[in-house]
Amino acid sequence: MQSKHSNDKIFAVPQKVEDVADCYFYHTVELPGYGVITGDWDLRRGMDDYLGKVAFAGQRVLEIGPASGFVTFEMEKRGAEVVSVEVTAEHGWDFVPYPASKLEEVFGPRQIVMQRLKNSYWFSHAVQHSKARVYYGDVYDLPSSLGKFDIAVMASVLLHCRDPLRIIEQCGEKATSLIITDMFYPDLEGAPICRLAPTSQNFLWHTWWHFSTRFLTQFLAVMGFKTSETLTHQQYHRGRAHTLFTVVGRR
Ligand SMILES: C[S@@+](CC[C@H](N)C(=O)[O-])C[C@H]1O[C@@H](n2cnc3c(N)ncnc32)[C@H](O)[C@@H]1O
Repeated sequence: MQSKHSNDKIFAVPQKVEDVADCYFYHTVELPGYGVITGDWDLRRGMDDYLGKVAFAGQRVLEIGPASGFVTFEMEKRGAEVVSVEVTAEHGWDFVPYPASKLEEVFGPRQIVMQRLKNSYWFSHAVQHSKARVYYGDVYDLPSSLGKFDIAVMASVLLHCRDPLRIIEQCGEKATSLIITDMFYPDLEGAPICRLAPTSQNFLWHTWWHFSTRFLTQFLAVMGFKTSETLTHQQYHRGRAHTLFTVVGRR
């Protein structure tokens, strides 16, 4: 895919993944020739709500954290040109800094899971003849060579990142519309709250925050974005319904 807005050299060369057994599917997907492959999250029934009912035809989209790429390929099917930013193998994750002796047990298995997750993206990419591109890099320091975007999507990713506001700020510099989707916590509603999720007991090394919707809409307003009504919707994790929210900001 040619884009007049970006320097194509920064994008990953698509990885060839021949065996579906080498993949870990975060998303449930239906792939031509393979049928339904069950993953952790099934977003198939709720995609329009998940993406804030935004129209994607002809839009250049920056997606932070594609995982298995179900959202990427859905946006592409709706007419978007998608660039996704994914964490590098070296960085691995924004690990919550539990004592090293505890975290060390996680690192090895996590590396394998992350490679298998990336495999699932490239496997689906090839089977669906996707033209989406991936930039493996630092989400806190996005290069200007990525270009400009109509829309940036931060779906189910900010909760996992140490500095979510820095990511929103970076996306806001690159895109005129922002879509943020995250878990909904009714007890946080009504005030701009970002609550620390890990405790010394729960060993939540992969997740940092619970957000109220106001925390995000207020920050978007600070950045000069107007937000429309916040949507809540049900999505399915291993068969169990969870409530998520989506806010859309436009400059
Ligand atoms: C929970 S999945 C969400 C996938 C997809 N966006 C969705 O809404 O279903 C989080 C994704 O964000 C990526 N991610 C997590 N931390 C990241 C970071 N610091 N920089 C870039 N990507 C990150 C993960 O590797 C994964 O692809």
